[in-house]
Amino acid sequence: MKHFCLFLILAFGITACSTPRNAKLATEYPSKSEEKATAKVIGLLKELLEKDYPAPARMERDAHPLQHGLVKAEFIIEPDLPENLKVGIFREAKTYESWIRYSNLSPGKPDIKKDSRGMAIKVMGVKGKKILPDLIDAPTQDFVFMSTQIFVTKDVRGFGNLLGSINRGKLNAGLHFLTHPRLVSLFLKVQIQLPNLTGIEWGSTTPYLLGDGTAVKYAVKPRTPTTETIPGKKDNVSDSYLRERLAANLANDDIYLDFYVQVQKDARKMPIEDPRKLWAQDESPFIKVATIKVLKQIFDTPAQQLYGDNLSFSPWHALPVHRPLGGINRGRRAIYDTMSKFRHDRNEEKMSEPGSWADFKE
Ligand code: HEM
Repeated sequence: MKHFCLFLILAFGITACSTPRNAKLATEYPSKSEEKATAKVIGLLKELLEKDYPAPARMERDAHPLQHGLVKAEFIIEPDLPENLKVGIFREAKTYESWIRYSNLSPGKPDIKKDSRGMAIKVMGVKGKKILPDLIDAPTQDFVFMSTQIFVTKDVRGFGNLLGSINRGKLNAGLHFLTHPRLVSLFLKVQIQLPNLTGIEWGSTTPYLLGDGTAVKYAVKPRTPTTETIPGKKDNVSDSYLRERLAANLANDDIYLDFYVQVQKDARKMPIEDPRKLWAQDESPFIKVATIKVLKQIFDTPAQQLYGDNLSFSPWHALPVHRPLGGINRGRRAIYDTMSKFRHDRNEEKMSEPGSWADFKE
């Protein structure tokens, strides 16, 4: 078996052998090379940012720089949750103020082109010590979502190899994809067109702790199906139709979304260390734990846009009972912290975690 794994790694860059046969629920199996791989990714991301935003240009996020909008939403914890889910922020029925930042992964691409989209939620007024030592007393708990339920690489090493090949030019990137057929199919799967930002499902793709001994993935789904459709060519929509539709819909009404957790039931079929693998809903269905009420509002002002650009979202802005799990998440701890500091330093902006909506002054 060991030799077979070695063959797969050498021949195809496949590293699918790190979850042992007797794997336990909510348990991590770190690989030895991941710190080095994380440092490599940080180096590559800095290189990319310096290239894309040469000084003294304002530096945007390396991933998800295109912000459709930063919107106000109430984050309402469900009453009467089962005891095993009454953990951390889900412990008591309570309404929190939150910001949601909607984004495209790629900069400078019209919304109608296929892309991966982001939804990052910052819940405010959350009491309790947080994980990151610098932000131990921060009043925030973040949840970070993509417009799919799966991620493209198993670990940070795989992501670093992909990024490295992209940095070395089109030929290298093409060669990398040619030798990694599974990556191609996942890459195509996570790039989507969409009718609007509030009518699709969002997934955390990576797992999180829910207290001791339980791991979950998160999902957000629309309460009611959207009546809007993906624009066709003859609709002649603008490059920013996602922002425009969000603005038009929120000018009229609140929009309700439901927040779910999916509990890990089988440590191999629902692995912690491989976010390429979908956790099947027939193994474990999603359970609703909160309502998100996106308020009727006007959000698309330059001041609010800039405020959203200057916020930092991270899966590690969290209570210890919601600690991110798995190799991709372990890597994201240093990556998000370092990259956010990097762009804030360049832009001479102060990093801070808001306590409520009132911290934003028009
Ligand atoms: C090794 C894997 C990953 C790397 C290297 C990476 C890197 C980054 C970086 C550098 C940022 C910008 C941070 C900042 O400047 O504030 C970012 C933002 C983001 N990432 Fe990742 N990421 C990874 C995995 C993921 C996964 C698994 C998801 C799935 C939910 C995700 C979703 C997002 C979203 C939605 C944002 C934008 C957050 C915001 O609105 O500020 N990323 N990522």
